Amino acid sequence: MLRTDFKTYLKDKNLKPYDAKILEIKNTLSNGGEMLDWYDINKCISLNDLARIKKISQEIRQNCELFIVIGIGGSFLGAKAVITALKPYFTKDNPEIIFAGNSLSESYLTELIDYMENKDTVVNVISKSGTTLEPSIAFDLIYNKMLQKYPTEELKKRIIITTDPTKGVLRKLANDNNYPSFIVPEQIGGRYSVLTAVGLLPIAVAGIDIDKLLLGTKEVNKDLAFEYAVNRDILYHQGKLIELFTFYEPKLAYFTEWLKQLFGETQGKDLKGIYPSSSNNTRDLHSLGQFYQEGTPIIFETVIGINQKGHLKNNLYDYPVEDINMIALKQVAFAHLEAGVESNIIMIDQLDEFHLGMLIYFFEIAAATGAYLLSVNPFNQPGVNFYKNLITKELKK
Ligand code: PA5
Repeated sequence: MLRTDFKTYLKDKNLKPYDAKILEIKNTLSNGGEMLDWYDINKCISLNDLARIKKISQEIRQNCELFIVIGIGGSFLGAKAVITALKPYFTKDNPEIIFAGNSLSESYLTELIDYMENKDTVVNVISKSGTTLEPSIAFDLIYNKMLQKYPTEELKKRIIITTDPTKGVLRKLANDNNYPSFIVPEQIGGRYSVLTAVGLLPIAVAGIDIDKLLLGTKEVNKDLAFEYAVNRDILYHQGKLIELFTFYEPKLAYFTEWLKQLFGETQGKDLKGIYPSSSNNTRDLHSLGQFYQEGTPIIFETVIGINQKGHLKNNLYDYPVEDINMIALKQVAFAHLEAGVESNIIMIDQLDEFHLGMLIYFFEIAAATGAYLLSVNPFNQPGVNFYKNLITKELKK
């Protein structure tokens, strides 16, 4: 179950003016159209590809030691978010999953290529365009290492390409060499692609149940997502320019990185948008909590809580640790509200595949809706394209 509580501060607000706009947005989303295939989960992945992902991931789990996932932005953050949220803190992964191509760190790439030396390795390169700088450079180096390590035939099991269905250099490489490949559906952009093969293959390789993840999306009460989008919009127009995605379970740290991309790239354009940030509580309360409480009043919070009973008893208090965490969540939200910092509370019953699937779809709907409310295009990123072009121009000089 996913529950929300926006009532603490919204009781006096008039939501009526939003009714017509939300109806229009609901129609836009359900009618489908350009870049909207993510809204219909059945269009994210075909049954055939879902079966292939399960089969290939099983083989990788049985046979390989090192699985390298190359990608950046939407081709990286979703898988990293789900894997970080659902794997135990202290575990020796089999295979070990390493992400690459999300920086231009020479030392990272040099050390990774050395690290591959004696490891049975499979590589999944993910890029819709096939031209993004960071994954292109990482793949160039890692592919060369794979060519040295393995004979041509062997690479047909060890290089897996996730890219555009027809276009680009990676599609050509897959076709020319018979490498296994998956598609990023044409009408789904990077930041909405976690429930396509982009996210599902690495997530399945981590041993996470992707059927349950997809099932969670079907149980989302979409009206709650629209209500949340309206609340954010109201707060924005009251001068709340920063949204802190606040969490009390550190396993959600990459989930909020994914949220930051989802909301930042979807809404931050035409000189508009709420700046998405995150707070890893209770840790960050001891460094930034003072600012949240009494600093420049431009912040509101969206708190993601997990409503589960604790078991770990301690000698200091009558409450188990998880219950103390929940008391902290509630009291901090009260304290912040006292200071005029509103919290949207979003609670899930437990941190598992099903509830994470719910959260993903809930936030995707809210992000796109928020952009429509601001009258900006949710699915382009002209600013990103602008700096990408400048870098490419400079590199070709
Ligand atoms: O949401 C987006 O479109 C971007 O963040 C892309 O995912 C990111 O730039 C990577 O693009 P590509 O998959 O083409 O390498």
